[in-house]
Amino acid sequence: MDSLGFIVIFVAIVSFFFIHTWLSNRNNPVIDWPFFGMLPALLCHLSNIHDYATTVLKHYEGTFMFKGPWLTNLDFLITIDPMNVHHITSKNFDNYIKGPKFYEIFEIMGDGIFNIDSDKWKRNRDTLHSLFKANSFESSFVKTIHKKLESCLVPLLNNASELGTVVDLQDIFQRFTFDNICSIVLGFDPNSLPNKLIDKFPENAFETAFNKMEDGMFYRHIAPRFLWKLQKWLQIGQEKSYGECGKIIDQFLHQFISSTFQEQNKFNYTKDDDESNFNMLKALVMESGMETIEPKFLRDNALNLLAAGRDAISASLSWFFWLVSTHPLVEAKILEEFRENLITKEENWFITSRLEILNKLVYLHGALCEALRLFPPLPFEHKSAVKSDILPSGDHVNANTRILYSLYSMGRMEQIWGEDCLEFKPERWISDKGSIIQVPSYKFIAFNAGPRSCLGKNITFIQMKIVAIALLLNFQFEVVEGHNVCPCLSVILHMKHGLKVKVTKRGIN
Ligand code: HEM
Repeated sequence: MDSLGFIVIFVAIVSFFFIHTWLSNRNNPVIDWPFFGMLPALLCHLSNIHDYATTVLKHYEGTFMFKGPWLTNLDFLITIDPMNVHHITSKNFDNYIKGPKFYEIFEIMGDGIFNIDSDKWKRNRDTLHSLFKANSFESSFVKTIHKKLESCLVPLLNNASELGTVVDLQDIFQRFTFDNICSIVLGFDPNSLPNKLIDKFPENAFETAFNKMEDGMFYRHIAPRFLWKLQKWLQIGQEKSYGECGKIIDQFLHQFISSTFQEQNKFNYTKDDDESNFNMLKALVMESGMETIEPKFLRDNALNLLAAGRDAISASLSWFFWLVSTHPLVEAKILEEFRENLITKEENWFITSRLEILNKLVYLHGALCEALRLFPPLPFEHKSAVKSDILPSGDHVNANTRILYSLYSMGRMEQIWGEDCLEFKPERWISDKGSIIQVPSYKFIAFNAGPRSCLGKNITFIQMKIVAIALLLNFQFEVVEGHNVCPCLSVILHMKHGLKVKVTKRGIN
């Protein structure tokens, strides 16, 4: 037989397998193709990946095995079954680690708390936990937010309302939270948020690098490992930009770390230092002891805290304000609650951070939880099994199996939230007695569950409430007609096209 004959037979056999696979799977939401695995389905639905994953997971009753292309090591088990998630995050916690593959993807984060496991993680968590518990942490966080609101965010929105200009609220929140978290972690305010509208908001190389860094992390989730490794080696494409971001971030952080060391040598900080002078770098040096602390420990933890404090809160604020401005009845109830609890005759705009007042705002709390349920800023989490195990759903897990649980899809499960799970309904969080209903963290998963749950949860609610009060009492936000609000492809659930709104002043009484 000549070579043409071989080619014809080869093509016929391959076609047979592809057609057979298609015919036997065409009613399934995802097809496992010979050679390519399920990657084609993933790529076809990349633009709405979270909703697609939700549909697929519902079809397979909460758990299924994603098959990557042959020999690419891209297989993982994906689940939204709350009992599986409880098992992975808490009950059999020691068996489910972040692991070396997670570390590779989030390489830039170094040995910061998000990236590490076992004893190293435990020591790191204990250190950070004691910083988060300190009164000086919460009070300086609140003071910083307060100052930024008063000096920049409120004046800027006032200016936007006077000029009638459309603004991108997401960009504004990113700048706001970036300035706040830099002040808290580094003791330095980059002033990326102006106090009035100018042609172009200031560019900050560090902040831009941060955004690109997230794109790079997402790319490493979906590209086969050999491909991004090759790109990294050749320094091309997405990997080139990931590498460049790392350098910018390192340069930026280096200056603060060196000055923290110099100042410590000069002034020898003590734990009784003036609270108004608080920053987390200094506090980490004090907590760990100058003799033992390494600059890399400070660099990695500073970066991890900056990432946690900027992105998750700014994304949540954007989704919250979008939901509220598109649900007038919810907005009216939030304002009613403010009127009952907050407004004093003397003040025409009100910024409060008094915890006893914030705690009274049950409906606002419910609305924030709803936004976090429907749009969790970290839309998915992944772990790796140390030893083989059987999940509560009966699914078998081998050692080194990668497991992904979708926080986004879990927020949209009828089994947890009922048939109206897609509705924005703060009432679902409020009991008949008018208090907040506590939902176990393996069901309301936005802050993760178990020993690795978020250390910043309390401070997040405080910050979001302070911002919600100051902005909703003073302004009304109208989303620009036709503006397309949808999630972008990233490890953080930002809005792809931002949040374009028109701002008008609100009379509060
Ligand atoms: C809306 C706001 C926030 C959300 C939804 C959120 C969510 C999460 C999630 C899902 C995790 C688990 C991440 C993982 O294991 O890969 C996490 C961990 C963590 N978060 Fe947050 N976070 C928020 C704000 C913050 C803030 C403001 C801080 C501090 C400034 C913070 C500090 C941390 C830390 C230190 C961890 C690591 C815990 C560990 O691995 O032991 N978070 N957060």
